[in-house]
Amino acid sequence: MQFVSKTGQIDKLSSPCLILPVFSKGKQTELTDLFDSAHNKQIAAVLKQGDATGKAGNTLLLQMPVGSKVKRVLLVGFGEQGKTTADDFNKAITASINTLKSLPIKAVCSALLTVDVDAKDTDWKVRQIVLKSRETLYQYTETLTTSAPDAHVLETYQLLVVADSTTKTINKGAETANSIANGIESAKKLADLPGNICTPSYLANTAKELGKKHPALKVTVLDEAKMEKLGMGSLLSVSRGSRQPAKLITMEHNGGSKSQQPIVIVGKGLTFDAGGISIKPSSGMDEMKYDMCGGASVFGVMQMCAELNLPINVVGVVPSSENLPDGDANKPGDIVTSMAGLTIEILNTDAEGRLILCDALTYAAKFKPDVVIDIATLTGACVVALGKHATGLLGNNDELANELLSAGIKAGDKAWQLPLWDEYKPQLKSNFADLANIGGPAGGTITAACFLSRFTEDYKWAHLDIAGTAWKSGSEKGATGRPVHMLSQFILDRC
Ligand code: BES
Ligand code: MN
Ligand code: ZN
Repeated sequence: MQFVSKTGQIDKLSSPCLILPVFSKGKQTELTDLFDSAHNKQIAAVLKQGDATGKAGNTLLLQMPVGSKVKRVLLVGFGEQGKTTADDFNKAITASINTLKSLPIKAVCSALLTVDVDAKDTDWKVRQIVLKSRETLYQYTETLTTSAPDAHVLETYQLLVVADSTTKTINKGAETANSIANGIESAKKLADLPGNICTPSYLANTAKELGKKHPALKVTVLDEAKMEKLGMGSLLSVSRGSRQPAKLITMEHNGGSKSQQPIVIVGKGLTFDAGGISIKPSSGMDEMKYDMCGGASVFGVMQMCAELNLPINVVGVVPSSENLPDGDANKPGDIVTSMAGLTIEILNTDAEGRLILCDALTYAAKFKPDVVIDIATLTGACVVALGKHATGLLGNNDELANELLSAGIKAGDKAWQLPLWDEYKPQLKSNFADLANIGGPAGGTITAACFLSRFTEDYKWAHLDIAGTAWKSGSEKGATGRPVHMLSQFILDRC
């Protein structure tokens, strides 16, 4: 779908569908009144009748008389005039698209930028309209045949230019938002694919395809022999239990100057996590296909950077493997040597994310990074601590952490920081190796980050635990695309 600005007088407009905001209390907008005056005050009558309530998310589709240049009007409620919150706004956008998506409407013209939202500017509203609309229209189709989803016909979404904006700023905002939405959608698509399709090799091929589509994106894939040479004994120990070979995927976007140190993002790409010999309970195990969501978010962000040709250097690294039980799999008590040289006692083979990430984080240093951010569905403990709403954030640099926290707030894709204090570190002591791969039941998200911190001492680093935020369970089961928006905002803020 295309989002473009539209100028012109509302009472002279032609459109298959005009989207107008209405409020439950207070005055309606000037634009609504202007349109209504040219149309026999029909909207005022409908509001008086109570058919449209104006409550946030309430919608009513009106058919205009035969011969009207505007064929339909969709009234969308935004709550009390002057009191619309960010949540109300998003709810209303989602509801409006839900109402439209089953109708044979190709193009809409929206006056929704006229709604004032507390502390938010036009750019924010454009971003939300694009992202929420795209999210509402998203459908997983990859492996469906008989229950094929509805075909959507909505192609063009016009945004009426409002007083404090211009065609140029709206189009620029829409373009940025559309590329973020593309990144989110790509991440969701990859993540929703089943483990028998989305293997490490599949991810590697997807990266190569992305590289073909965007020639400026430099894609490299290391196979197991190359990783062996680099001494990635920890990463390779995980993939030994799987018939699918591990891959280490790198995507480089060099939009900045040669001398600019890159942002390196490292995403856990565990395409299926059965736990290995420390096997997981079978109930809900299918959801462990989502254990590559960190990697998927790296794909999404790199695509966004390439599409927008951002003037900044960003490197995406995705270590990818399966974690399965096998005669050659890691066993509890096994000791492996990481690329950094530290030996690790594997006390639980289900704590495999950190085993593949530690070698990828050591590898990341070769890009002489300004900062490194890893993204991983790392611990069930994070879901216990923060639930499904906030991504866990830890790291060794508060400035970087604060940058991510505020990008998350701006994007509505929020994180919450947990402490990475030295007090937690002794929990990883092993009698037989430099460190153990688990730290016991207390503070599981923190001790996982403590483990990673042993491999990130040479650069500024942040860790995002997306175990609770990367996908939804139950009837809404599906990937969320988080934290592509947060990371995109973080990168845009640095451009
Ligand atoms: N991928 C899981 C973490 C996970 C579990 C994410 C549930 C989302 C939902 C990770 O590899 C894992 O199994 N972690 C273990 C660590 C434990 C053995 C220290 C966990 O959280 O149970
Ligand atoms: Mn695991
Ligand atoms: Zn895992």
